Amino acid sequence: MLLNQDFSHEFHWRGKDLRVGFVLPEAKKKISDGMKYMSKETIRHRFFGLKNGFTDRELKYLTEIDGYNHFALGIEEVKNPERGVAILRLVRDDLYPQEAEMAILIIDEYQKVGLGSLLMHFCIAAAAERGITTLRFTYLPDNHAIVKLIKRFGSPKAEQLASDYVQMKLPLTKELVDKALKALSEFFVKA
Ligand SMILES: CC(C)(COP(=O)(O)OP(=O)(O)OC[C@H]1O[C@@H](n2cnc3c(N)ncnc32)[C@H](O)[C@@H]1OP(=O)(O)O)[C@@H](O)C(=O)NCCC(=O)NCCS
Repeated sequence: MLLNQDFSHEFHWRGKDLRVGFVLPEAKKKISDGMKYMSKETIRHRFFGLKNGFTDRELKYLTEIDGYNHFALGIEEVKNPERGVAILRLVRDDLYPQEAEMAILIIDEYQKVGLGSLLMHFCIAAAAERGITTLRFTYLPDNHAIVKLIKRFGSPKAEQLASDYVQMKLPLTKELVDKALKALSEFFVKA
């Protein structure tokens, strides 16, 4: 598996040296501090409401992961590794193990520069390595950024879950997986 617990890779992105790597238990403080770098809108879109911080139990859940049923990658600046820049999370469904819920969060300063698409490629590759064939996204109806991002990868139908949430399921076709692997191999050559 390419994207395993040892995965860590430095790359250059829009004038910055960044590192993408597997989320380890040591990331608790970074995740906890991360709220400082997010607008209320970003927090609301990711956590579906107000959030001021994480409990110890939440931090354990977010960082002590097996890499197979629960996979997460983080991005940080090489020069300032105490600050998280982005995180991608993939959690396998208990009842439908070929489906996984994907969540993504990029701090405001780094939004709209294409990191979302890069993380989608990583997510699709990680999912394919783990036998996941469908990605699920749950989001708030006014989250146009995530919808635009998903639609770059396919045209799944949105389904209203409860009054406050929408869900999209993106089937991971061979074409989509090949496209992600190709984008990542170009990324690794360039970075
Ligand atoms: C959703 C999110 C991951 C998108 O990441 P990103 O790096 O900004 O995405 P990209 O730069 O690859 O751009 C994707 C598209 O969304 C658009 N976009 C980004 N932010 C936007 C915003 N606030 N409003 C409208 N469109 C936006 C981009 O312009 C781009 O559109 P295009 O395809 O027409 O060019 C990021 O905005 C984010 O972390 N938001 C907060 C958390 C969140 O909403 N997570 C999703 C729910 S789990």
